[in-house]
Amino acid sequence: MRTAAQAAPPTALTIAGSDSAGGAGLQADLRTFFACGVHGMSAVTMLTVQNTVAVSDVIAIPPAFVAAQIATVAGDIGVGAAKTGVLSNRGIIEAVAQACDEAGIGRSHGTPFVVDPVAASRHGEQLLDEAALDALRDELFPRATLVTPNLDEVRLLTGIDVERRDQLPEAARAVHAFGAQWTLIKSGHLTHDSQCVDLLYDGTSFVELPGPRYETEDTHGAGDTMASAITAALAKGSPLVEAVRFGKEFVSHAVRDAYPLGAGVGPVSQLWRVGERQP
Ligand SMILES: Nc1ncnc2c1ncn2[C@@H]1O[C@H](COP(=O)(O)OP(=O)(O)OP(=O)(O)O)[C@@H](O)[C@H]1O
Ligand SMILES: [Mg+2]
Repeated sequence: MRTAAQAAPPTALTIAGSDSAGGAGLQADLRTFFACGVHGMSAVTMLTVQNTVAVSDVIAIPPAFVAAQIATVAGDIGVGAAKTGVLSNRGIIEAVAQACDEAGIGRSHGTPFVVDPVAASRHGEQLLDEAALDALRDELFPRATLVTPNLDEVRLLTGIDVERRDQLPEAARAVHAFGAQWTLIKSGHLTHDSQCVDLLYDGTSFVELPGPRYETEDTHGAGDTMASAITAALAKGSPLVEAVRFGKEFVSHAVRDAYPLGAGVGPVSQLWRVGERQP
């Protein structure tokens, strides 16, 4: 018989791809959930063969298998909040939308749903084809509590090329028109700006999220870490603006503590919140 010594922590689900080098993707998401005191679960969408230098191969998981992972953990354990990472293709996006509806995940169901619309590689190359971009805009954004595009994704989704901080409101309005409850535009890619000021929008008013800009190339996993920290805070019951402020603070510390790894781009570190690095 089970003896309940401890209550279970809040739970969160990441619907994302595996990064074999461990810097981003579901590995970063699960580490962030852990560092935030949340039990993490995963529905894997894609496997990658990658190191810190390059992605050399990928396999997309069959859509029905992705949906089954969502349904099986939601049915047994329950999902406090969910987030998406890379979704690979139209079939997976449609399967995720349906599985989330059935699991009660999404703005009109009650379980907070953060859609990180991963669509561009680190170098700005398009990762999703046009059919998948359409499915993101039409199927997933209207179900999202929050969407969190970076500036390459803003360009792919809206055609707006943001080069200065004062263009962020225009970008937020254009992305918001696809139907998410809240839109967060991330400004990490404005590399000539002395700060990293992200912009949150609910269709009526803007909330600026200022933060320092650290001089480092090692920012792999920054976006995933931020969306996961927001998701963890939502799973713990934080109101949205508070959760996004927490995510911004979490990722700023993670970029500050980024470390070199391999011969290429190193990851941001969630260890700052766990503490002691020595054994
Ligand atoms: N050099 C930096 N110093 C401090 N904060 C940063 C830096 N680069 C990015 N950030 C912050 O990290 C978060 C992620 O932003 P970014 O625009 O890099 O997302 P992303 O491109 O989706 O990340 P990823 O490359 O991991 O997918 C934002 O809050 C951004 O302001
Ligand atoms: Mg990203």
